[in-house]
Amino acid sequence: MELPRPELALVPRPRRVSTRSGRFRLDATTRLRVTPGAEAAANLLRTLLAPATGLRLEAAADGAFVLALDPALTGLGDEGYGLTVSPKGALLRAAHPAGLLRGVQTVRQLLPYDALSERPVRGVAWDLPAVEITDVPRHAWRGSMLDVARHFQPVPYLRRYVDLMALHKLNVFHLHLTDDQGWRMPVAAYPRLTEVGGRRTESMAGPAGSDRFDGVPHGGSYTRAELRELVAYAAERGVTVLPETGVPGHVRAALAAHPELGTDPARRLDVWTHWGVCENVLGTDDHVLDFFRTVLDEVMDVFPSPYVHIGGDECPTTEWERSPAARARAAREGLPGPRALHPWFIARMAGHLMRAGRRPVVWAENDVPLPLECTVMSWRDPGHARAAAERGHEVVHAEHRTTYFDYARGHGAGEPPGQPGIVVDLRTVYDVDLAPPTPDPRVASRVLGAQGQLWTEFVQTPEHIEYLTYPRLCALAERVWDGTSGWRDFTARLTGHRARLDALDVPHADPPPTVSVPPRVGGVR
Ligand code: ACM
Repeated sequence: MELPRPELALVPRPRRVSTRSGRFRLDATTRLRVTPGAEAAANLLRTLLAPATGLRLEAAADGAFVLALDPALTGLGDEGYGLTVSPKGALLRAAHPAGLLRGVQTVRQLLPYDALSERPVRGVAWDLPAVEITDVPRHAWRGSMLDVARHFQPVPYLRRYVDLMALHKLNVFHLHLTDDQGWRMPVAAYPRLTEVGGRRTESMAGPAGSDRFDGVPHGGSYTRAELRELVAYAAERGVTVLPETGVPGHVRAALAAHPELGTDPARRLDVWTHWGVCENVLGTDDHVLDFFRTVLDEVMDVFPSPYVHIGGDECPTTEWERSPAARARAAREGLPGPRALHPWFIARMAGHLMRAGRRPVVWAENDVPLPLECTVMSWRDPGHARAAAERGHEVVHAEHRTTYFDYARGHGAGEPPGQPGIVVDLRTVYDVDLAPPTPDPRVASRVLGAQGQLWTEFVQTPEHIEYLTYPRLCALAERVWDGTSGWRDFTARLTGHRARLDALDVPHADPPPTVSVPPRVGGVR
């Protein structure tokens, strides 16, 4: 099949692209002229192009490829850039370093598709087509969430995950670090969290509620050094790592390590081997709050992200209703009942983050009012996003029907069955509705953007992660970066872009020959 020229297959599509005649060849003689502040972008360009092209792109004062940081450039925002390529050279300019990093990804996409290969490629002329590009993202939050709690992934794979995000100009890597089935975040003050909470004896082999188990132990956790290295690696690519250590539900792994955190300190629980919503939640005594403040202190120490996610989803209140201590706590706090301990707990954690200068992010739940300072991640219903934006919250779209990549991609035989009745196909992702229907620009401006989510109860390998993520994440990246292209235009460009995914060995076909897709089973977590 004839592929479109790379400049016609950019994903996400830049705001303005004009093609010109001619091309500029990158070869062994090409030098970079790098102005102060543009060094990181120059290094990234070299790092990304070296494996396939072998180009060294050394610095020289008269280099024909110019990377320039120019704070006087107005109108490009934090992440916009301008790129001019003519037969004589190339000029990449931005007002902020992050804009240059986005422009580097465009340069990479303008080259022949094989430039993305991780192996040396011979016999290809590394030509950049002459173009004039001005590019600015529409949304500031362009994210991708990976659940490393249900199935652990080592840091070398997370680096690749970040690289694939950065290729698509995504900028928030939401790392879901803790859940009922595993605690992956190192906390020096409480080593049992990873030593005990980081392992489970086996995993449920069927859907939530099934009585079949695989008999295979599963475990893993990160060190602080590894996570710091990941944060630095991501920053070099303009990606912020958003950590999530969730409370007050989804904490069974923490309770296995520290029974004193629960509503019944005498009870011994294992790290959960089931899927579904676990009814065990945190107790509400002061020492529990203090424990999780310490956890958050260590999270903040490792992750410089201005935003920190504290979970808040799916917290059954039955244990609190049964617990005299929790009922007494609710009464002492003047709450209408134990159910209100859910937002109360979140507010305590949010306050701790705010006092440290960070911004709490919380999953939206039905009937759980949140402090206005919380950024709301809307996952059940787009109506939650609208309501939250109207109340005054910042909002990130993460709705399950449009952005959950663990749901089936289509109706094909090789697809996981997904949530009963729900297929999140490419078109559904592309059609994600990001704007609240409001004439009030203040409300609209509170919608920061959107992100894809991959929950991994039934996803164990990098190949399966990527099969489910691509090309759906390409569609989401397109929508959050620009979003005005139209479906036909996007799918035409995606045809060429798939050649990039091939060059990177990302499985994206339907279904890929190398992946056997285990059954995905139903049940909202
Ligand atoms: C979620 O899917 N429980 C946020």
